[in-house]
Amino acid sequence: MPSPLNFLRNLNIYPLIRSLLFQLDAEAAHHLALTLLKKGLGPNINNDFDPILRTTVCSLDFPNPVGLAAGFDKNAEVIGDVLNMGFGFVEIGSITPLPQPGNPQPRLFRVPTAEAVINRFGFNSDGIDICLRRIIAYRDATIGTKQAPVGLNVGKNKDTAEAADDYVKGIKAFALHADYITVNVSSPNTPGLRDLQGREQLANLLKQVMEARATTDKKPPVFVKVAPDQTEQQQDDIAEVVLASGVQGMIIGNTTVTRPSSIPTDLAKEAGGLSGKPLFAMSTEVLASLYKKTGGKIPLIGCGGIFSAEDAYAKIRAGASLVQLYSALVYEGPGLVVRINQGLTELLKRDGFKTMSEAVGTGNK
Ligand SMILES: Cc1cc2nc3c(=O)[nH]c(=O)nc-3n(C[C@H](O)[C@H](O)[C@H](O)COP(=O)(O)O)c2cc1C
Repeated sequence: MPSPLNFLRNLNIYPLIRSLLFQLDAEAAHHLALTLLKKGLGPNINNDFDPILRTTVCSLDFPNPVGLAAGFDKNAEVIGDVLNMGFGFVEIGSITPLPQPGNPQPRLFRVPTAEAVINRFGFNSDGIDICLRRIIAYRDATIGTKQAPVGLNVGKNKDTAEAADDYVKGIKAFALHADYITVNVSSPNTPGLRDLQGREQLANLLKQVMEARATTDKKPPVFVKVAPDQTEQQQDDIAEVVLASGVQGMIIGNTTVTRPSSIPTDLAKEAGGLSGKPLFAMSTEVLASLYKKTGGKIPLIGCGGIFSAEDAYAKIRAGASLVQLYSALVYEGPGLVVRINQGLTELLKRDGFKTMSEAVGTGNK
């Protein structure tokens, strides 16, 4: 029997809340959402969805395949609260070694007519030390209980000349406390970051990252997060380098620097990465292509423009073992997580799959 408080929390009153949040500047609305979550005012969903959604990737058990993408909880402030929305995992970060403020405001823009978001945060981060303390506090508070996986996404400080040094710091600091670590080389808002995806730069970076991992007591899987803006040649290079590096998985992908025609011109001119609905088709295409190029040898995480169970299912059929979303939360609210998981259950059963992992890549065959 749900408590009256839980009933109210779980009721879909988001359209009302959204009209209030949309009166605020986008970044202020984000801070308000974090504050409400910290006060325990978010949904509290038991992650007891249909067992068909359970999946194991890189020896990690996921109660469902729908994760919260990096960028929402950059500083590890609301780990348990976002998992309580019904997510099967959460990715914290990006976290830089030293604290840094990021770009000047305004740096976050809603594009309501296209259900999109443009951001140029530029890795505003509390830094490794503070985030690590919060992550350890979360682990201590949940010790002995079964929790969904927590990934930690690492980036580089704006002024670091040798990028690999910062990623190595992230790996060494977080290996003991992360279920997986994401090496983010695809945010468009740190000058030069995306160049790290080039063939030689990526090979060199991943070599250093994997050498650092070899020195740590616990060795969480490492995922590389790439951009959706890739030519065929760049995809070939990435697939080859990632497979040769020994990295365990890839996230496809980050925001796009392109501006589809659905973005009104006044907003299209804002610098930064675009996410949300207009990103879905292009990121799913790159996902399918990288699935073919990597031959299913490593798990892929599909991210970009997921707004529904059908979208999540399309990513899975294109080759994703797990999916992530962020921007849809802005437009649909936290109830979306439950709706996607319930819809995904129906879609998997409709098509005769017995487990979620059976469906991975079936759209490509
Ligand atoms: C406001 C905002 C901040 C983000 N910050 C990060 C970040 O720090 N690190 C990262 O790897 N991705 C970041 N992302 C990208 C998301 O993790 C995700 O890859 C992208 O938004 C596509 O998914 P979506 O269309 O579901 O939002 C951010 C996205 C948004 C909208």
